[in-house]
Amino acid sequence: MAGALLSPLEAVAHLATYERLDGLSAKDLMDSRVHGGLTYNDFLMLPGKIDFPASDVITETRITRNVILKTPFMSSPMDTVTETNMAISLALLGGIGVIHHNQSPASQAAMVQAVKRHENGFIADPIVFSPNHTVADMLDIKARLGFCGIPITKTGSLGAKLVGIVTSRDVQFESPEAPLHNVMTTSLVTAPQGGKLPIVDEQGRLTSLLARSDLLKNQNYPLASKDHSKQLYAAAAVGTRPSDKDRLRLLVEAGLDIVILDSSQGNSVFQIDMIKWIKQTFPKLEVIAGNVVTREQAANLIAAGTDALRVGMGSGSICITQEVMAAGRPQATAVFAVAEFASKFGVPVIADGGIGNVGHIVKALALGASGVMMGGLLAGTTEAPGEYFYHDGKRVKSYRGMGSLEAMEEGKSNASGQVNGSTKQAFQSSNEPHENAATTRYFSESSAVKVAQGVSGDVQDKGSIEAFIQYLYVGVQHSLQDIGMRSITDLQEGVMKGRVRFEMRTASAQVEGGVHGLHSYTKRLYA
Ligand code: IMP
Repeated sequence: MAGALLSPLEAVAHLATYERLDGLSAKDLMDSRVHGGLTYNDFLMLPGKIDFPASDVITETRITRNVILKTPFMSSPMDTVTETNMAISLALLGGIGVIHHNQSPASQAAMVQAVKRHENGFIADPIVFSPNHTVADMLDIKARLGFCGIPITKTGSLGAKLVGIVTSRDVQFESPEAPLHNVMTTSLVTAPQGGKLPIVDEQGRLTSLLARSDLLKNQNYPLASKDHSKQLYAAAAVGTRPSDKDRLRLLVEAGLDIVILDSSQGNSVFQIDMIKWIKQTFPKLEVIAGNVVTREQAANLIAAGTDALRVGMGSGSICITQEVMAAGRPQATAVFAVAEFASKFGVPVIADGGIGNVGHIVKALALGASGVMMGGLLAGTTEAPGEYFYHDGKRVKSYRGMGSLEAMEEGKSNASGQVNGSTKQAFQSSNEPHENAATTRYFSESSAVKVAQGVSGDVQDKGSIEAFIQYLYVGVQHSLQDIGMRSITDLQEGVMKGRVRFEMRTASAQVEGGVHGLHSYTKRLYA
């Protein structure tokens, strides 16, 4: 027996005697004739060789023909996920947030403008009151949003003449009905735009000087997603009706860089015509078309001139499309099929929906996605629209599908609704009537009965995306290190050439791969 043993020194060379590498290539794994349609949980990637630190891993990625980001993270155009705060914060952290269109065109354009005008360290869209607002208004904001310094302008809007400021100290002992002009501080310290602001103590002695450039340095976001003039990238969603052309004009005036044509089934004559119209009318605007899940759907949109494709039908956490429409595709198979085809034309693919953890992100990237779009994972963060409330003792925020009856009915009531509940000046125009975005996404505006394709619920408080996105970023770096790949580009090339290997997980393998056999445990994901 011993004589049959090979020398350990021959171990690596001996690998060459095997017909193929361990595991399966992505192509073999994703042969739906053999395995059916797969989800992210149905397979794993086999580890590679580590010869570099995780911090060396580069996550740069091209999300449309002409836009490159430093991270692949995108947020969904949903009214419980992406408004100004999410779009700005995500762009600062290296991703991009897509502003939803379940609101009036003016209000959506104001959000795009706020992203484009954002400067680090400055609050570009502060809550502003007029002198006739009351102490009760101020206390309400303080209780709900925690702010305690509110500028007062003549008309109560940003851009009007500044007449005072109120802080909590000014209103401490005042009656709630008192108008703010009775209590506000009118001796104001201001600095000209771009200038320096001397900071003094109570005796008027200079303690420091605040300069814009210092603010910029202090809050340095090395991964920030910026255009060539160093402004944050802005993305927003629109539909494909004639009125969406007017909406898009407003968004482009506000500085829009990327438009997403928001449809659950993108392979339609409406979308093909819209892509052609946009490419003629706004040649510099990047278009992401979709959603698609097959090569055949993708081909039409690529031929019409799209700059990227959004992939996913029925995989979203709030989604009941597959159940109700009997159409859709398991997400891993959909991403691979479309990305493999689209890559031949240089068209990037965004994996949209069903991302529940870091592993899902890496699997989507490995299957060819250039970006991952997240709804549920980012809902419940501080930067998502809406306010926290308690449900069964847990601090939560609303999260709902855009095809839920609640979202489809939104246009009939208040455009920004209870979910958003924003008091911000820039959003006040959202009370204007507008055509409902959700009904058109699901082609149900003319139906006698509205058929829901999504549900409405809530998700637990996740804190700020500052920490959460950092966790996803470092998590992706560590995962790529385990697979032995130094960048997303290397990973995708390794997969296409069959060097990165995969394996199916049986039902019991999935149980084994999760926490099991414990009496109880707490799952803390990052610190
Ligand atoms: P999640 O990240 O799994 O929560 O999925 C978010 C994605 O679900 C979005 O980006 C949309 O593509 C999709 N989506 C949003 N609303 C609905 C709906 O009501 N029904 C089906 N899919 C939806």
